[in-house]
Amino acid sequence: MTPSERRAVVIANRLPVAWNGKKKEWKTSPGGLVSALTPILQETKGVWIGWSGVPDREFEPFDHSGIRQVPVFLSQEEYESFYVGFCNGTLWPLYHDAVREPQFHRHWWRPYRDVNQKFAETAAKTLTSEDVAWVQDYQLQLVPKMLRELTTVHRIGFYLHIPFPPVELFAKMPWRGDVLEGLLGADVLAFQSRSSRTNFSVAARELVGARGSTRLLEWEGREIILQVAPIGIDTTMFKRHASSEVTLATAELIRSRLGDPKIVVLGVDRLDYTKGIDLRMRALQTLLDRRPDLAGDVVLVQIAVPSREDVAEYRKIRRDIEGLVGRINGDLAQVGRPPIHYLYRSVPFDELIAYYRAADVMLVTPLRDGMNLVAKEYVASRYDNTGALILSEFAGAAEQLTQALLVNPYDLNGLADMLERSVAMSQDEQARRMSLLRGSVARHDVFWWAERCLAPLGIE
Ligand code: ADP
Ligand code: F6P
Repeated sequence: MTPSERRAVVIANRLPVAWNGKKKEWKTSPGGLVSALTPILQETKGVWIGWSGVPDREFEPFDHSGIRQVPVFLSQEEYESFYVGFCNGTLWPLYHDAVREPQFHRHWWRPYRDVNQKFAETAAKTLTSEDVAWVQDYQLQLVPKMLRELTTVHRIGFYLHIPFPPVELFAKMPWRGDVLEGLLGADVLAFQSRSSRTNFSVAARELVGARGSTRLLEWEGREIILQVAPIGIDTTMFKRHASSEVTLATAELIRSRLGDPKIVVLGVDRLDYTKGIDLRMRALQTLLDRRPDLAGDVVLVQIAVPSREDVAEYRKIRRDIEGLVGRINGDLAQVGRPPIHYLYRSVPFDELIAYYRAADVMLVTPLRDGMNLVAKEYVASRYDNTGALILSEFAGAAEQLTQALLVNPYDLNGLADMLERSVAMSQDEQARRMSLLRGSVARHDVFWWAERCLAPLGIE
């Protein structure tokens, strides 16, 4: 079999589609992973193995958007202990610099192991020895080793979409050895950033005795390649949508509904405590306190996409942010002109791009983020080299987007300074920065990423 004929079988926590119980149909889901992998699988006639998103309900395999979908069943109990518990109560905070206290519970660890086993067994039924198994993300870190025991696939790849933490943090996890050994079952391990790759390599050498370097490890007589492969977007598609007449008209409409302010600042994120939504709002407040003349001229639109609402910390951050919006608007709004417009919902793709077009400044301020595709999507939508991107230095994207206005989101004065600077930025400076940013995003697009990840796995 030639590399161009080889099938990629993606094994991810979620299918790229979600079940709409009312309409009884599958709908493509938003999210970084989905945006990135869908075009690749359509081209390679691949298979996607993942959870349907509905606990306690069985679905048969089916085709959607030109991709074979193989659903994995999760009971309500597994949803609570594996997904809500270990994935989002233990791993997510731990891997994001422990910005919230990670919870370590043995009664979450066992279901994590068992659900990983279930994914591996489902995949093993589909995989042939010619296939490449491509395992995705922190929910399935034990699957590479399990697949090595269950199958004889051509190669096993693993891609971590979120950061891999420094060893000092990772070492706290009671099951750290099992997780590292699970990952070391892969032939190629890929990370979003250089710092994540280094962190993993150090952890593997210090905690389980792997040998080697930052790029190549030796483990149980095998060589494992450690790759840096920052994920990208389909820039041509964003440019096409962004420049359509409908999008431009919608962008105008958005601005006029906002009262035609001089400067529209935009935030678009899943409502997650890692995204720094509260900090950016407090920075706006700091700026408006400092510069009352800007009130009414500068407005922030925050689109917050509902996410992981069964996890207690997510309910809390929602309450906190909504309280903050109320307080800031209460303190600073003029009638009909609040400084913050807050939308708690998912918006359709076309509307999202119109928001990118309507925004003079994009505020991306995560406390820690694997990559942050929203930053790249904004840049790709500014085809006329207008607009300014403020980007947290703790987002993976900051390693590539060095022409953005890079900020430490914890530094409220610094963030307010940067906001002030972006509001006053000349068109020349905007154009110079944006054209460099656009070049970088276009060179390292989703197709570049796919090739970089799949080539060492034997797929062309
Ligand atoms: P994460 O993977 O943590 O959610 P990213 O910024 O990397 O963060 O990816 C978010 C993805 O979700 C982007 O591709 C973005 O276009 C999409 N998205 C974000 N907000 C919305 C929204 N309101 N409606 C639809 N899609 C959205
Ligand atoms: O970026 C990490 C990630 O888990 C993506 O894989 C996913 O699309 C997004 O966050 C949303 O997470 P969840 O699947 O838990 O809703």
